[in-house]
Amino acid sequence: MKTATATAPGKIILFGEHAVVYGRPALAVPLHDVCAKATVSEKMPGSGLIIDAPDIGVRLSAETAPTHPLAVTARLVLEHNSCQPPDALIRIESTIPIAAGLGSGAAVTAAVAGALSKYLGNALDSATLSDIVFEVEKLHHGTPSGIDNTVICFARPVYFVKSMPPETFKAAMPFHLIVGDTGVASPTKLAVASVREGWERDRLTYERLFSAIGEIAASARQAITSGDIDRLGEMMTANQALLRQLDVSSPELERLIEAARTAGAVGAKLSGGGRGGNMIALVHHEDTDHVETALKQAGAVRVFHSTIQ
Ligand code: PMV
Repeated sequence: MKTATATAPGKIILFGEHAVVYGRPALAVPLHDVCAKATVSEKMPGSGLIIDAPDIGVRLSAETAPTHPLAVTARLVLEHNSCQPPDALIRIESTIPIAAGLGSGAAVTAAVAGALSKYLGNALDSATLSDIVFEVEKLHHGTPSGIDNTVICFARPVYFVKSMPPETFKAAMPFHLIVGDTGVASPTKLAVASVREGWERDRLTYERLFSAIGEIAASARQAITSGDIDRLGEMMTANQALLRQLDVSSPELERLIEAARTAGAVGAKLSGGGRGGNMIALVHHEDTDHVETALKQAGAVRVFHSTIQ
């Protein structure tokens, strides 16, 4: 039986969320500790193309539910390959938490598009895959910057500016992040819309905040590529102060950020859309366990350690 499989990592935004929607630079890294996986397997002639995601209770036919984002993903891949829908089942599994700022939507789309194009005998390059995922991200988020699809499809750390080719980079030395989940599901679309309302009310203030965030993201890239962890931590804390002014933090995020810092993290901030979801703390390796424990005690529903290379 013919089959094809593709996986895609989760992601973490290190610096620059929200401001990136307004053309400022942002930094994001793939999160290989969690991933989405899609497997396409051949079915009996006449079965049509079925998409099955049991984890989220979705099972649909690409033909009868054509506007569902997963069916749109399949259609874009088929159009790219000038193919008719095959008689096949696309099965999706994912360990990436949903609506938590870890890129679950983009990773699932990337895995489906990647597996289906392999199945059709034409594996996509990262840039083409990223373009397809971006089209689907628009259905989920309205006005996405493109950072999620880029970091997930390139699966490398990226310095990202909207509408520009992404630049990948490498850390001078591995650094350690603790990711703490507030347990509060927070759709990115709502946080992005609320920042837009604020920007429409007071463009001058918001543009200044976005520029300050963008400057931090640009300097942070230098700190990462030169291995200056302490400076990177200070920049995380400064970025968080600006995100607070954009009103995308929350009491739960602040509690976890404070707990991480008190336990010895060199810096901490929310990651992604905010208002809930995950925060990240930068730690020296020897403080990992201590910060993890502090986050759990402060109410994090899930905590994990990720090494960024
Ligand atoms: O919530 P996430 O992880 O999907 O991150 C969204 C990042 C934003 O900058 C808030 C939006 C965007 O499209 O870049």
